[in-house]
Amino acid sequence: MLRADNVHKIYKDGKRELHVLRGVSLELRKDEVITIVGPSGAGKSTLLHILGGIDKPSSGKVFLDNSDFYSLDDIKRARFRNQKIGFVFQFYYLLPDFTALENVMLPSLIGIRNTNDERRTTKNRAEVLLEDVGLGKRMRHRPSELSGGEQQRVAIARGLINNPKVLLCDEPTGNLDSEMGLEILNILFNLNKKNKTAIVIVTHDKEIARRADRIVEMKDGRII
Ligand SMILES: Nc1ncnc2c1ncn2[C@@H]1O[C@H](COP(=O)(O)OP(=O)(O)OP(=O)(O)O)[C@@H](O)[C@H]1O
Ligand SMILES: [Mg+2]
Repeated sequence: MLRADNVHKIYKDGKRELHVLRGVSLELRKDEVITIVGPSGAGKSTLLHILGGIDKPSSGKVFLDNSDFYSLDDIKRARFRNQKIGFVFQFYYLLPDFTALENVMLPSLIGIRNTNDERRTTKNRAEVLLEDVGLGKRMRHRPSELSGGEQQRVAIARGLINNPKVLLCDEPTGNLDSEMGLEILNILFNLNKKNKTAIVIVTHDKEIARRADRIVEMKDGRII
């Protein structure tokens, strides 16, 4: 469903070249949860961004639903990404001036034409997702009025609003204590079952890594 094929990423820093991904191939099956582990600097985040269409590979290809992601022009790729991929980051990146509900609705409002009907559907879906992550009573709160774990739950709901094929999570529990981290993880696993969303989780946490269907270990820009 999502496939990286011999992906290389080279950053150019003045005269120096940094070869960050060195021929990474990876296949994610639909409904699967995989974790990506490895030391700092191994290229985990870079790979995740390339899988999600937000950073171009220097060479190699990424296929999502049999479409060659990077052969699309930027606008088409952005639209494709908006509809098929959700992201969750370590630091949540919620918009501070919007309520939890509005934050969750945003990726959908960007993606559709926004007739009243569509807005209503989006709002209903956002409410269901916020209930799913246990925030039914916090929908009208702004991010500053929520705990870290609650903010991350909002971010997860936001990542799922367009019913993506895959949710890409970069250290989603990295900023939380272990109890809250486990709760976030349980939410992710339950949503994987309920919504049939494939999930990729980059993590440093061995406990978390163990619970995936498959663990992918990276080192020095390669999958080992
Ligand atoms: N935009 C960039 N320009 C230049 N070098 C970069 C850029 N982004 C990342 N790098 C370098 O690429 C390497 C891999 O970075 P990446 O963020 O993918 O590592 P990571 O495995 O996610 O590490 P961590 O566990 O610390 O998050 C690092 O050496 C980093 O400094
Ligand atoms: Mg990283």
